Amino acid sequence: EPTKLWGGRFASGPAEAMAALSLSTHFDWRLAPYDIAGSRAHARVLHRAGLLTAEELDRMLAGLDTLAADVESGAFTPVIDDEDVHTALERGLLERVGPELGGKLRAGRSRNDQVATLFRMWLRDANRRVVSGVLDVVDALVAQATKHPDAVLPGRTHLQHAQPVLLAHHLLAHCQALLRDVQRFRDWDARTAYSPYGSGALAGSSLGLDPQAVAAELGFAGAVDNSIDGTASRDFAAEAAFCLAMLGVNLSRIAEEVIIWNTAEFGYVTLDDAWATGSSIMPQKKNPDVAELARGKSGRLIGNLSGLLATLKAQPLAYNRDLQEDKEPVFDSVEQLELLLPAMAGMLGTLTFHSERLAELAPAGFTLATDIAEWLVRQGVPFRVAHEASGACVRTAEARGVGLEELTDAELAAAHPALTPQVREVLTVEGSIASRDAHGGTAPSRVAEQRERVVDAVRQHREW
Ligand code: ARG
Repeated sequence: EPTKLWGGRFASGPAEAMAALSLSTHFDWRLAPYDIAGSRAHARVLHRAGLLTAEELDRMLAGLDTLAADVESGAFTPVIDDEDVHTALERGLLERVGPELGGKLRAGRSRNDQVATLFRMWLRDANRRVVSGVLDVVDALVAQATKHPDAVLPGRTHLQHAQPVLLAHHLLAHCQALLRDVQRFRDWDARTAYSPYGSGALAGSSLGLDPQAVAAELGFAGAVDNSIDGTASRDFAAEAAFCLAMLGVNLSRIAEEVIIWNTAEFGYVTLDDAWATGSSIMPQKKNPDVAELARGKSGRLIGNLSGLLATLKAQPLAYNRDLQEDKEPVFDSVEQLELLLPAMAGMLGTLTFHSERLAELAPAGFTLATDIAEWLVRQGVPFRVAHEASGACVRTAEARGVGLEELTDAELAAAHPALTPQVREVLTVEGSIASRDAHGGTAPSRVAEQRERVVDAVRQHREW
């Protein structure tokens, strides 16, 4: 049994169904480049500990280079007898440097510390790719905000018309959530930047190897402080699954709005042909499939997170084979987002907003009622009374089928004696929006400032 890493005490090989159950190369092969990087670093610490001569180290590194090239070109791939990525690469190394030298590399390491390290490395790189995709979505939203500095829309609560806001303010609200997602990945990375390599199976190494040197070579901030924790913990994976699921949920909320905005009833936007699909039976259809897939995939990402948490729950320390189930959900979440993010950026960046339609709807549904109440407050009327008076205006306007701005002087005065014709200065969408000029408000000056801060944040995150 030349390819097994653990044959010594066994009289027979594994049963076929046992081997089939155990196999993980179909998903962990993507860790191969990281496994080889780990092997290079490990060979160096073996050399420094006097366990490989300089000549052996050179041959080992040359063998690992050839192996890396063959993995990259596809000349070397796992075979069915290779239990996992580590087993396959050990076979590849033995084939290249011979069993004598190749057999020395396994000293002082275990697949338990290897896989925990490689998984962190893969995820740290993957999350940077995800972050870059998120920033592209933010850029697309900012570009739309920049293109429509004055466009307004009816802001909603409970999906009902609430108060008019700038379209740019609404789009930037989504940017804020996405930028927090990016920040969350960065915070996660700082916690995940510790290498379990050198933890061995669970107890650490007796061979005088230096985990800090391996950690530094593999781009970590340091080595883990506890070898049991290093091999047993997967909260980094669960937290990554959460960050990815939260991002998916934030994208889904944008997507849901696009789906609604794209209906004939709303008519806010038109999708670009390149980012929509047709129907096989209804020739007139132009469907928002990107947005619907975003909404659908968010459910899948939530499932990946809850599945992983369920896998981790109740596992005693340290390593258990259950932990092999940790990788597929997280790989899947990353891969779904790598498909989704460019499509979301494309769809959002090419939306045509119908500013006239939005402007027409912005005051509909008496969205300026709060402005009447706040105008009265500025005249010294208690808000409780002002709220009632404004409500009376709405009742009158609704009964007559007119907008608040169309109420007569007499109707206004009947609602409250302080309601003079001057109130009409806030009874325009522009007046209402301009008046909300405190930090974070929808007034154009505040939205412009906010846009600048978002652009700065994107620039800073791109340098990470
Ligand atoms: N393939 C395993 C995993 O992904 C690592 C191998 C550890 N196996 C073992 N029998 N200790 O977790």
